[in-house]
Amino acid sequence: MERILASQTPEYIEKEVTIKGWVNANRSHGPIVFADIRDRSGLVQVVFMDELGSKANELKPEYVVEITGTVQSRSERYFNEKLISGKVEIAASNLTILNTAQTTPFPIDTDGHDIDEDLRLKYRYLDLRRERLQKHIKNRSKVTQFVRNWLVGKDFTEIETPILTKSTPEGARDFLVPSRLQKGEFYALPQSPQQYKQMLMVAGFERYFQLARCFRDEDPRADRAYAEFTQIDMEMSFVTQEDILKLTETMFTELVETLFPEKHILKKPWPRIPYYQAMEKYGNDKPDIRENTDDPNELAFAWVVDFPLFAPQSSDDFFHGSGKAKFAPSHHMFTAPHPDDIGLLETDPLKARGLQHDMVLNGHEVGGGSIRIHDAKIQEKIFELIGFTPEQMKEFEHMLTAFSYGVPPHGGVAPGLDRFLYTLFGETSLREVMAFPTQASGKTSVMDAPSVVTDEQLKELGISVTKKSSTDNV
Ligand code: AMO
Repeated sequence: MERILASQTPEYIEKEVTIKGWVNANRSHGPIVFADIRDRSGLVQVVFMDELGSKANELKPEYVVEITGTVQSRSERYFNEKLISGKVEIAASNLTILNTAQTTPFPIDTDGHDIDEDLRLKYRYLDLRRERLQKHIKNRSKVTQFVRNWLVGKDFTEIETPILTKSTPEGARDFLVPSRLQKGEFYALPQSPQQYKQMLMVAGFERYFQLARCFRDEDPRADRAYAEFTQIDMEMSFVTQEDILKLTETMFTELVETLFPEKHILKKPWPRIPYYQAMEKYGNDKPDIRENTDDPNELAFAWVVDFPLFAPQSSDDFFHGSGKAKFAPSHHMFTAPHPDDIGLLETDPLKARGLQHDMVLNGHEVGGGSIRIHDAKIQEKIFELIGFTPEQMKEFEHMLTAFSYGVPPHGGVAPGLDRFLYTLFGETSLREVMAFPTQASGKTSVMDAPSVVTDEQLKELGISVTKKSSTDNV
């Protein structure tokens, strides 16, 4: 018999059905056993009686089962309003145990917040069975689907860019991958597809997007994933900053109103807050402008604009400057200066504003972007101000060369998918909205990477590893 889902059972009253899933819980009342069976749609209660009752007594949580039976209405006093199938139950006529299961290392019928996170991530495939995470991961899929459809509807082309690439300076450390064919040389994993998306504008696509995996070796925080995260990366040609802000704002507003109607956006259009005003009024550049921080459904979006183009260079900047320059780009080195402030690049660079925009939600920076420099002379001036040596400038020669073949004015934005969802769902950490996040310690969930490789593999790559001795500091 064809399988139906738990959520479909109310449509089959008095009919025989087959369901398949996991035992969520079971309780026996003498010869009668009740079991809640869970599948991807939710739970349904099954009743086993007589001989089947004794077989059902063997069931344990997380056993995988196939059950055939007749759907019956429950009497009103047994309605369970919390379940989509709460007005019915299945009177079983057959039970097949498809697989047994060990006792799980932690409960999965709770929200899981109070369980040790490293243990949850070690058994992430079990942790993901809990209702809260199932909901987050499914909503994440709805969001990416919405974004894809919406952008394609606006004539954007989805384009994948390389993962094995060259360092893209976004301000964090790179992850390096050794090359077997070019021994002693390394690829870098992209901190973002920034340079590729700009080259796609030179290539004439005009409207690009990608659900882009980005890799950054930086210390994790509640709102910052270690190692990898996803951006809704976008770039457009022949646009003003206003066009980018309007398009992004419309997409996110429609997304929230369509998929999460219980949420309400505090201010439409989203307020635009100049950087200095944000610093003065709120003391930071990602102001929380909510009126009621206790309301989990309040969403206060804002744009922060008019950022200074440069910040004073500090010793922990990872830009590839010579260390002698005084300036580090406050967003990245491809951000265009405000047209009124070009002169300041010569006289007082720290006073120059950039055409940068940050998307803020409930006090979190959920996206960043800018209008880009499309004038090679200004790009060279920026490189000079951030202290690039001629050799370092050479590293970006491909960009300057590409720009010499007719680059359109262009700009874009990259909302962080994980950070947006974490803020939207009011979660405690970004890891709660990712299927297999990396632990705070830097170890991947379940697979426990990084790991030691064989001497053979190292030899092939031309790498020798100095083994840590027991006296080394860890
Ligand atoms: P930026 O570096 O500001 O810009 O990143 C854009 C957005 O990506 C998200 N993000 C992160 N999310 C989780 N963990 C992290 N470690 C992390 N780092 C960044 C944030 C952030 O707002 N190429 C430019 C974009 C552009 O100019 O178009 C860029 O990457 O939500």
